[in-house]
Amino acid sequence: MSSLIRFGVSLDKQLLDSFDNLIKTKGYSNRSEAIRDLIRDELVRLEWRAGREVAGTISLVYDHHTPGLSSKLTDIQHTSPDIIISTQHIHLDHHNCLEIIVTKGDPRDIEKLAALLKAARGVKHCALSMATTGKNLA
Ligand code: NI
Repeated sequence: MSSLIRFGVSLDKQLLDSFDNLIKTKGYSNRSEAIRDLIRDELVRLEWRAGREVAGTISLVYDHHTPGLSSKLTDIQHTSPDIIISTQHIHLDHHNCLEIIVTKGDPRDIEKLAALLKAARGVKHCALSMATTGKNLA
């Protein structure tokens, strides 16, 4: 368990006012938790840039009536079985499917998988949410 350390930060009043307004709209009850989250976000970005093991989710929206598309998306996922932990398929309506692919592994492999899925013709939306394994964060 890590120890808690307090430190002072000097900020321009206008910048601090903007920060306070920002965290209020985001629902933070105090500055400390908002600052911790900002630091964690930056550390997670660093994990992705540094090529450390990361976790992430890819969400896809597509029309399953598009000829060959469901099969193509499955084929692409079968090229990366090592990084795919789980896949969830939701039938949003008569046409549209939402697929959520949970991944863990090398960030370059995850980004490549997301790019291949996004480039598949007929995919309406594809987004990669960059997360972390949490191992290196307090
Ligand atoms: Ni479906």
